[in-house]
Amino acid sequence: MNEVDYKLLVEQVQAFADTENDFVPLFSNVSALLYEALEDLNWAGFYLLDKGSLLLGPFQGKTACIRIQPGRGVCGTALVKDEVLRVANVHEFPGHIACDCASESEIVVPLHCGGEVVGVLDIDSPRQDRFSEEDEEGLRAVARRLEAVTDFSRLRLY
Ligand code: SME
Repeated sequence: MNEVDYKLLVEQVQAFADTENDFVPLFSNVSALLYEALEDLNWAGFYLLDKGSLLLGPFQGKTACIRIQPGRGVCGTALVKDEVLRVANVHEFPGHIACDCASESEIVVPLHCGGEVVGVLDIDSPRQDRFSEEDEEGLRAVARRLEAVTDFSRLRLY
């Protein structure tokens, strides 16, 4: 499998944000960027807090479920625990929400604004155990840069 240049991805996130940092265009381009840069994906995108639950945000891949309650699925669990969840086999994750039955593994990285968790980056693969420790570190770096540069002011958190 090709090595992903996560340092370059972080720089590209910064370049997008230098043009426009509203979360809709920024996360749209970042989901497209990740979907192209990482091999063997079937979904890459964002769920963001809206009136107390996770609302589908910009993404690439097949149509997906629109709202996820806190604590539900991998995304809702990562949100509540405020932890990165790297799931090697989604069929073994209790309560996993299968938007695409092709999904076999998944990584979810929480996103923060002002120290509070406000959403997640969610990436799915049709290959079991697709995401390595290096991918986790790289995607954490992408998320940290996004948190630093994004204008979240249009979110409706409560
Ligand atoms: N699998 C996720 C749901 C979102 S889709 O993968 C796009 C979950 O269990 O939370």
